Amino acid sequence: MSPIPPDAALLDSLRIALAPSYLYIKFIHLFFVMIWGWSTAVAYSWYVKGAFLRWEKNPRDAQAIQRRNWAIEQFDKGVVLEHIAFPIILVTGPLLYFIGPWNLDFKWLLAKLAIVLLIFIPMEVCDYWLSHFGGNKEKLRRRNLPEQYERAIHLHWQFLKISTPLIIVFMPAVVFLAVTKPF
Ligand code: HEM
Repeated sequence: MSPIPPDAALLDSLRIALAPSYLYIKFIHLFFVMIWGWSTAVAYSWYVKGAFLRWEKNPRDAQAIQRRNWAIEQFDKGVVLEHIAFPIILVTGPLLYFIGPWNLDFKWLLAKLAIVLLIFIPMEVCDYWLSHFGGNKEKLRRRNLPEQYERAIHLHWQFLKISTPLIIVFMPAVVFLAVTKPF
């Protein structure tokens, strides 16, 4: 019998060492999936969307513009929870995959990972930039860059209009796949 290559042996011993923590890691995975999935729902649905739809109806209304700006600047801050949760999900998920009996023959996991790689990760990369980096509205306002500020607000609103239906469909889909493992 050919000896087990040292790397494989190392991975095996790591897997055995981590196995007793599987459910704790799954708890962390699931807990941060809840934060990721829901932490911005109320703010978006009741503050941001309302303010932007009112502004779209009256684009020159000073009060509508002021309320829009306030809502999106607050939203940039509130999305921090979601953006702390996402990397934790992306670490704990592969850990569960590594420790558990999983491989890509499990079609539910393949479908789930396709959604994560093709939709969630590209979407979050845009969201990180729009909320915390070049697109952060408060930073642009403090640096007195009104044109970039206005452009960033328009861009973020377009992004939210595209990403919200994707979240509404694919977030429950991923949770359904992971919990029911239908195929
Ligand atoms: C935003 C992305 C993700 C969401 C919303 C999500 C959601 C979930 C949920 C709800 C569960 C619990 C299933 C149950 O209790 O039976 C779960 C478990 C699991 N997830 Fe994720 N997950 C995500 C990313 C990932 C990634 C990137 C991987 C990487 C391989 C992964 C691998 C797993 C595995 C292996 C399990 C354990 C299944 C079990 O023990 O029953 N997840 N995920």
